[in-house]
Amino acid sequence: MEQEVKEKPWTGRFTESTDAFVEAFTASVTFDQRLAYFDIRGSIAHARMLAEVKVISVEECEQIIEGLEAIQQEIEEGSFNWSIALEDVHMNVESRLVAKIGDVGKKLHTGRSRNDQVATDIRLWLRSETDTILAEIDRLQEALLRLAEQEAETIMPGFTHLQTAQPVTFGHHMMAWFEMLSRDRSRLIDCRKRVNRMPLGAAALAGTTFPIDRNITARLLGFDAPSENSLDAVSDRDFSIEFTSAAALLMMHLSRFSEELILWASDPFSFIELPDSFCTGSSIMPQKKNPDVPELVRGKSGRVFGHLIGLLTLMKGQPLAYNKDNQEDKEPLFDTVDTLKGSLKVYADMMPTVVVQRENTRAAAGRGFSTATDLADYLVRAGVPFRDSHEIVGKAVRFGIEQQRDLAELTLQELQQFSAVIEQDVFEVLTLEGSVAARNHLGGTAPEQVRSAVMRARARKAEELSGASAFQDQSY
Ligand code: ARG
Repeated sequence: MEQEVKEKPWTGRFTESTDAFVEAFTASVTFDQRLAYFDIRGSIAHARMLAEVKVISVEECEQIIEGLEAIQQEIEEGSFNWSIALEDVHMNVESRLVAKIGDVGKKLHTGRSRNDQVATDIRLWLRSETDTILAEIDRLQEALLRLAEQEAETIMPGFTHLQTAQPVTFGHHMMAWFEMLSRDRSRLIDCRKRVNRMPLGAAALAGTTFPIDRNITARLLGFDAPSENSLDAVSDRDFSIEFTSAAALLMMHLSRFSEELILWASDPFSFIELPDSFCTGSSIMPQKKNPDVPELVRGKSGRVFGHLIGLLTLMKGQPLAYNKDNQEDKEPLFDTVDTLKGSLKVYADMMPTVVVQRENTRAAAGRGFSTATDLADYLVRAGVPFRDSHEIVGKAVRFGIEQQRDLAELTLQELQQFSAVIEQDVFEVLTLEGSVAARNHLGGTAPEQVRSAVMRARARKAEELSGASAFQDQSY
């Protein structure tokens, strides 16, 4: 019964066949076959709509859907024969449909073009990938919240210029990362709204002469609405650029986390221990345990930044409406999604396994005069103008450097050489615990504040997750 259709569907006006190299050069099937599932869902919705508006009969529609579902099966099983000659995923699937169900299959493309079809496929695919990515962000954020709670009192040095600045709590540091991810998450959710517009019905560029109802297809495919303008619908790739831009920011954040983890896991820091399962050894230096995972994530940020520039450049010279240039949108977008998903997954898996070496972080905070600002604030509270107190503490620090002792290790008498207002109670502010506990206001590093930041974050997350059902794919 099955007839083999190998012929390209557009050869009617051609007299010569395609040059073999040109055929391979212009084909996209090697990479766009990953859109197949969404291509088929889009086609099924299109067929249903065509039947509803009576452009095809209900029987024809049923035959088409049955054929498409069978093709879906073949693809899943790996028995589908992808052909370069058939250029892309759309023509491969359509040609197979005609081979399976005969002439009825040729009716599927009524009122549609590959131009609106491909734009629809990418949007459906990206919407689904965005949801997976959002779930991975949630998982990583949960790991950070746990770590923040667990290490709410753990003292570590806070840095500016990578010089010891003031003591902070490890939990506070984790919550800083959490905040970055919260912004990333909201950027992706916002981007998703613009991804979720349906180009289908724009046809090649101007719409179609058939009495289509785009609201039906949009509803079937779970789009918020059909796009407004057919020229814009087939040529717009803003949504890919926007997604890649949000991804680039997210990768930049993961790269910064990575840089910190790499430093912290290094021997001179020894702030954390990464488990063996996330590290590799050296083939020559037996003592080495390398933090490959964060290093790779840091390295991978580069390709996503590159894809952003690549996509912007791809679009900048294109007149309306569709141009073949747009075929080049897929590989950068696919790689952006793969890189981001992989990096988030490995981070969400790795963070719960990080062991904080509390004694080392505390000892590091105890070096480097991290409570110097606390002494300056103490003097101000005793009536010394801040600029004078800064000068006084600077001298005390210089004395400490000469003596190789931290401020808290100087005696009261030694401290009093620098200012007579200093009393015994100064040692309360010079301790690391006193220093962090004193920064006890919204957004501060005090353990109490870290705990309430975690609580607020959990409440926010619960709200986000309860709204999440709105973002799940509808059943097509
Ligand atoms: N493979 C093409 C792409 O990725 C599909 C659209 C082709 N349209 C066309 N008129 N040649 O963009």
